Amino acid sequence: MAATAASVGVPLVIAIDGPAASGKGTIAAGVARELGFRYLDSGSLYRLVALKALRAGIPVTDEAALAVAASDLDFAFDNGGVQLGGEDATEGIRSEAVSAAASQVAVHPAVRRALLSRQRAFRQAPGLVADGRDMGTVVFPDAAIKVFVTASAEERAKRRYKQLIAKGISITMDGLLRDIRERDARDAGRVAAPLRPADDAVILDTTDLTIDAAIGAVLDLYRVRTMAAERQRS
Ligand code: DC
Repeated sequence: MAATAASVGVPLVIAIDGPAASGKGTIAAGVARELGFRYLDSGSLYRLVALKALRAGIPVTDEAALAVAASDLDFAFDNGGVQLGGEDATEGIRSEAVSAAASQVAVHPAVRRALLSRQRAFRQAPGLVADGRDMGTVVFPDAAIKVFVTASAEERAKRRYKQLIAKGISITMDGLLRDIRERDARDAGRVAAPLRPADDAVILDTTDLTIDAAIGAVLDLYRVRTMAAERQRS
């Protein structure tokens, strides 16, 4: 299947966008694994900038300083983890404080610009699955396949609750639901690259879907689209 992507010249991109806790990250990683493609979790870049800013005492409102932090970002992905400045930051970027700060950092156009080329550098053969908020609209507008993953806010809060409880973190459902709604509003309401489906995106509602079924749906879409593209070429 990877040969299909390579045969079109530019490595093929599957863009998977959606709100927090919609399942897009798990779906994107699963699709990348099945196809042998590279995987970009773009949210982790915003989280790394937020972690770096919190550590350096840079206010989340200081756009210029945050943009410098983003363009100098020294990160590396390895074995499902991520390093910041040579130190493991896999857990550090997942804290609730970093989640909230990442969403605030991400509103700044200069930060988004600084991260653009870093994200596009992940487009390599045999192909890329990229997940985030603006993969299909801004970062990879020419992506061959665009999926917008949704799920109700209640279902997403429930999923997040289970994950946090499993980690031994005590949290209330009400608080989580409020956080998710606040983050959705900030991500969708910002002027720079707001969260919205690309015009040519397929909407995938995962409220009542298992992860495997959702991965299967994206793989089906990939097969149908690449077969159609091959038929057109021959
Ligand atoms: O997907 P995530 O929850 O790890 O993303 C963390 C924050 O980064 C989220 O609040 C929105 C922001 N983000 C963004 O603005 N654009 C992206 N492509 C990915 C994430």
